[in-house]
Amino acid sequence: MTMKNSKYNNIQVALHWVVALLVLFMLIMGTFVLAQTPNSDPSKLAGLRGHMVFGSVILLLSLVRLIWRRMSAQPDHADTGNALLDRLGIAAHYGLNLLTLLTAASGIGLALQAGLPGIVFGGQGTLPPDFWAYTPRIAHGILTKLLAALIVAHVVGALYHQFIIKDRLFARIWFGKRDT
Ligand code: HEM
Repeated sequence: MTMKNSKYNNIQVALHWVVALLVLFMLIMGTFVLAQTPNSDPSKLAGLRGHMVFGSVILLLSLVRLIWRRMSAQPDHADTGNALLDRLGIAAHYGLNLLTLLTAASGIGLALQAGLPGIVFGGQGTLPPDFWAYTPRIAHGILTKLLAALIVAHVVGALYHQFIIKDRLFARIWFGKRDT
């Protein structure tokens, strides 16, 4: 297995784990708290405020991460010894990046269509009865499910590398000095 670098650099490692934790938090809170709270509930505004801020931070950090990735040297894609699995792994990485960007973008589209910046941050007007009349709400719901499914596949793949192939994959995406 030839590698240009033994691991990702520390900035990429930090951005990967911060974005991963934020996305996980947003998927759980969005599904089990935000979407379950009626818009008539007084706590909904605070929930939306946090969700919109963290969601926008995810979008910003993801863009920084992708730009940083283009500008810095990368380790080669991890090798499983099976061409199909390798191709699936590469496709999953593209998919995760794309779905994260589309999920955040659809959330922002929904917020803009529903006038949420003014309502949630400016105290102007009230929330609609729900968000389902807005097309981006449907897209946001579907994209979050696809993203969650792909994250599960990504974690299973990473665990397969670490514990079945035993190639110490996690060391590539953790802090430390590069060997090469
Ligand atoms: C990658 C970032 C994001 C993730 C992972 C995420 C996750 C979620 C999830 C899981 C839901 C519930 C979906 C459902 O159960 O149908 C949701 C709903 C929602 N999200 Fe996001 N979101 C993100 C970004 C954003 C952004 C940037 C905004 C707006 C600026 C936003 C605004 C909303 C709104 C308004 C709802 C609807 C809540 C409701 O129906 O009561 N989201 N989000």
